Amino acid sequence: MTVKTALITGITGQDGSYLAELLLEKGYTVHGIVRRASTFTTCRIDHLYQDPHDPEARLFLHYGDLTDGSRVAGLLERVQPDEVYHLAAQSHVRVSFDEPLFTADTTALGTTRLLEAIRNTGLPCRFYQASSSEMFGASPPPQHEGTAFHPRSPYGVAKVYAYWITRNYREAYGLYAVNGILFNHESPRRGPTFVTRKVAMAAARIKAGLQDNLYLGNLDARRDWGYAAEYVEAMWLMLQQDSPDDYVIATGTSYSVRDFVEHCFTHVGLDWRDHVRFDERYLRPAEVDDLVGDTSKAARVLGWQARVHTPELAGLMIDAELQALLGKGEVTVPVVPPPTHPLARR
Ligand code: NAP
Ligand code: GDD
Repeated sequence: MTVKTALITGITGQDGSYLAELLLEKGYTVHGIVRRASTFTTCRIDHLYQDPHDPEARLFLHYGDLTDGSRVAGLLERVQPDEVYHLAAQSHVRVSFDEPLFTADTTALGTTRLLEAIRNTGLPCRFYQASSSEMFGASPPPQHEGTAFHPRSPYGVAKVYAYWITRNYREAYGLYAVNGILFNHESPRRGPTFVTRKVAMAAARIKAGLQDNLYLGNLDARRDWGYAAEYVEAMWLMLQQDSPDDYVIATGTSYSVRDFVEHCFTHVGLDWRDHVRFDERYLRPAEVDDLVGDTSKAARVLGWQARVHTPELAGLMIDAELQALLGKGEVTVPVVPPPTHPLARR
């Protein structure tokens, strides 16, 4: 068991919740930054909650927002982390076309605020940046650490900035700062407007007779979908190496959105063609057609390899939705938002 302290931004998100679990299991004290909302946003980590009055408590939450640099710096000073996992971002690609300035402020500049805070406090902490395969955009697959970036969304552009500012602080100031270039990774805790969770939820609801149709956009896009719980292990491994470097994390396989839909519907004994309808509102002004990661470097240096591939992932996600509908699942994010919810239109 280790006695390290970690600070996680985005701890309430999909990855933040799995990473917090992993680090607590490893004996870390974990501090998470949570942005204030009018309702609680901690449903993904409620099962980890510990009363801070308990002398054994090792999970602590603090209000903070990436747009507030002074708060971020103050927290860093107070927490004195050994490792900082920077996961917070406006992470939805389609939404980034609607909110490009907020996306740039949070996803790009938020990273600089954190790096500046580390530099100014002089803390010898290690820094993980949640970089994305979305940075490769239009560059043909397979994509690896040396593939040229050609982002296709304000989100992708913001992540390219964050990638380079992370490298710049490593080169200019000698910070132990790494980029994990993660390809799509999913789970039952995935936000309900990302395509895998949207499909899994809808297939389960259709099976249960709660809805008839599922509206989707581009079925031809191809993604390299892995399992989020495994990807956080790679984040941790990157911060345990002798020297900082950047790594692609993926499964190395590619499936279309149509394939994923087919896996989910077949899993519950339905024919997707009877239920899936096209809605152009889900198309994007510019699309990323094909992402497949080459993880040779991560396998060689980190010893990391994906174990769950897309078909098993679809199965475990849809099983979780069915369990949730039966009222005994561990799906922790809004379980059954109505498909007609206005914010589901993304
Ligand atoms: P997610 O579920 O959308 O979580 C994003 C987190 O960021 C949430 O905790 C969110 O808080 C927080 N956040 C957003 N804006 C913030 C702000 N202004 N200040 C403070 N916190 C803020 O994303 P994820 O899937 O876990 O992904 C984690 C990171 O990896 C993100 O940076 C994402 O861009 C990147 N990434 C994800 C994937 C993937 O396939 N999942 C692939 C590559 C890279 P709320 O809970 O309050 O919304
Ligand atoms: N969300 C969504 N909703 N996507 C749809 C839909 C729909 O109704 N119909 C088709 N798609 C297609 C999108 O056009 C895209 O090609 C693909 O499904 C995947 O979309 P998302 O699940 O929204 O994920 P993403 O690939 O755009 O972005 C995710 O992965 C990135 C890594 O490559 C996010 O997690 C990003 O934060 C992450 O960086």
